[in-house]
Amino acid sequence: MTQTIAITGATGQLGRLVVEQLKTRVPAGHIVALVRTPSKAADLGVAAREADYSRPETLPAALAGVDTLLLISSSEVGQRASQHRAVIDAAKAAGVGRIVYTSLLRADTSTLSLAAEHVQTEAMLRESGIAHTLLRNSWYIENHTVSAKGAVSAGAFIGSAGNGLISGATRADYAAAAVAVLTGTGHDGQTYELAGDVAYTLADLAAEISRQSGRDIPYKDLPPADYAAALASFGLPGWLAGALAEWDFEITKGVLHEDGRALSRLIGRPTTPLATAVAQALG
Ligand SMILES: NC(=O)c1ccc[n+]([C@@H]2O[C@H](COP(=O)([O-])OP(=O)(O)OC[C@H]3O[C@@H](n4cnc5c(N)ncnc54)[C@H](OP(=O)(O)O)[C@@H]3O)[C@@H](O)[C@H]2O)c1
Repeated sequence: MTQTIAITGATGQLGRLVVEQLKTRVPAGHIVALVRTPSKAADLGVAAREADYSRPETLPAALAGVDTLLLISSSEVGQRASQHRAVIDAAKAAGVGRIVYTSLLRADTSTLSLAAEHVQTEAMLRESGIAHTLLRNSWYIENHTVSAKGAVSAGAFIGSAGNGLISGATRADYAAAAVAVLTGTGHDGQTYELAGDVAYTLADLAAEISRQSGRDIPYKDLPPADYAAALASFGLPGWLAGALAEWDFEITKGVLHEDGRALSRLIGRPTTPLATAVAQALG
């Protein structure tokens, strides 16, 4: 019997890719999109239920009858531990059998400030007694390629990651891994450190942007304070500019380098190359 699979954050960028790929593997009638704003889910092609992490009263009805839940970590940094606690508590009360959670690469030892809420959520899952799988995702390549067009206009790609190696992968590849785990067996109790097969530096990324754009776009490494100031001058809120610069600088310490290849093993193919992600960003 096909089980009912629910996905939180289903109107987000990763969630949409999961739903799209899951529909090719499971009848749409067995997929439930859990979303903060149901009107944004009309195009998903599956049933949508309201599930707001910050409004726990929405969660019991949202999780009723769900066998397997993909808990996509909230984007509201700083509120995530309490939000995830609400979802896990509601899942337990609703009798959800299995939770798959999108965590952060080596969350338990990572020096990224983002790690703390993931560590807390992983502990909540252990304490819940619910069977679960941890998908510890490295960086999305798109975190950096989103700036590719701007770099071509500006004549340089700026950052604070030095020569740090980034084992990034596309959102679509992480979505494929989530679908493999949601539809497969033998994943309970597993922790997967998910990352791209081929690590790159921001200088490698700039070289690829140069190759594809036909313009010389060097990588210019900046002290984090200068990079944050540049991001703020582009209109980013100060806290976000500071956080992005801090996370970039952490890359110099190797926090996003991983060569275990668990992602390509899960999805049964090599991860999407950097060149493809750059082509998508410039296209
Ligand atoms: N590994 C990485 O490099 C990386 C980078 C960025 C983010 N992340 C993490 O991965 C997650 C998914 O990434 P993404 O690119 O899909 O992010 P995204 O496009 O920003 O999507 C975040 C999703 O979280 C939902 N959400 C936020 N607050 C919520 C709440 N109170 N109740 C219910 N849903 C809520 C959003 O709902 P709406 O659609 O209603 O806005 C959205 O669907 C992020 O939330 C973040 O935790 C990882």
